[in-house]
Amino acid sequence: MTVGGRTFSLRMQEEDLGDIYPGMVRYSVELWEKEGLVAVFRTNSFEYAPTMTYGAREAAERVFSSWERDLAGDIEGFLENNSLREPIPYQSPPETPGVVVIQGSPRPGGNCSILASWTADEAQQLGKPVCVVFPHDLDIHPCIGCYQCYNTGTCVYEDDMNSIIPAVEKCRLLVVCTPVYTNTVPAGTKALLDRFQALHASRTLGRRPSRGTRGLLLSVAGRKGKENFTCVSRVVGAFFSLVGISAEKPVLLDGMDETRDIRVIPGLETRVRDAVRTALRKD
Ligand SMILES: Cc1cc2nc3c(=O)[nH]c(=O)nc-3n(C[C@H](O)[C@H](O)[C@H](O)COP(=O)(O)O)c2cc1C
Repeated sequence: MTVGGRTFSLRMQEEDLGDIYPGMVRYSVELWEKEGLVAVFRTNSFEYAPTMTYGAREAAERVFSSWERDLAGDIEGFLENNSLREPIPYQSPPETPGVVVIQGSPRPGGNCSILASWTADEAQQLGKPVCVVFPHDLDIHPCIGCYQCYNTGTCVYEDDMNSIIPAVEKCRLLVVCTPVYTNTVPAGTKALLDRFQALHASRTLGRRPSRGTRGLLLSVAGRKGKENFTCVSRVVGAFFSLVGISAEKPVLLDGMDETRDIRVIPGLETRVRDAVRTALRKD
C-alpha cells in the first residue's frame, strides 16, 4: 500500500513452534517499508487461557485489520504509536561469573547461608568469579504464565531477573542452596526458578544450544528422612533440565530441627567443598 508517498507492505506470518511445546503456534503481523521492518506484533497460542473467547490467530487478524485501517488514516500517528521497539536486552554481568550461587533461604545467617558461603569460598579459592543471589531480598515478580516470552525471548517484567538470567546462562556452575518449605522450595526461590521460563524461550526460539553449565543442589530439611527432599529434588531438577543444566550429585541434609546448625556435622564442610570442586573440575 502507498500512503503519503511511502510504500508499505503489511504481512501476517504463522510459525509452527510445536517443537517447543505441543501445538504452539506463533503469529507475527509485520509492517515493512522497503527492506526495513517498521512495526511488529507477535502473539502465540499459549497466551490464550481456555476461557478466552478468541485465540492467537484471531488476535493477529484483528491487529492486521486495525493496522490496515490506521495506516490508511493517520500514518504519522500510527508510526509514532507502533514503531518497532526492541525488547530491552538482558544486561550481562560486568564480569562473567564462573559460579552463581542461589542462597534460597529467606533466613539470613541460616544453614543455607552457611552452605552458600562454603560454596562461594571454595569457588573463589579455585580462581572462579562468584555471584551470590538472595532471591528474597530482590525484586522478582512471580511468573504470570502469559507466555509472551515465547514471542520475544524476554519477560514482560523488567526487574532483578534481568541480570540474574544472563549470569546463570553464562556460568559454569549453578549452585542452588535451598531449605525445604512445605515440601518444596521457599516462595521467593520458586518465583526465581519459574522466571527462567524466559531463558528457555530465548534459547529455544534462538535455537541456542545449552552451554554445558552444571547444577548442584544443596538442601536442608527440618524433618528426618531423605523422603523430605522428594519434591525439592524434582522442582530443582525440572528447573535444571528446562534451562539445559546438567545435574551433579546433590548434598541433602535432613533432621535440621534437631541438629539446628549444620556446622556441627562432622566432615560436612569438606563434603560440600569437594562437591563444588568436582563439579568445576569437569570443565
Ligand atoms: C515455612 C516453613 C516450612 C517448612 N517446611 C518444612 C517441610 O515441609 N519439611 C521439612 O523437613 N522441613 C520444613 N521446614 C524446616 C526447614 O527446612 C529447616 O528449618 C531448614 O533448616 C531451614 O533452613 P535455613 O536455616 O537455611 O533457613 C520448614 C520451615 C519453615 C519456616
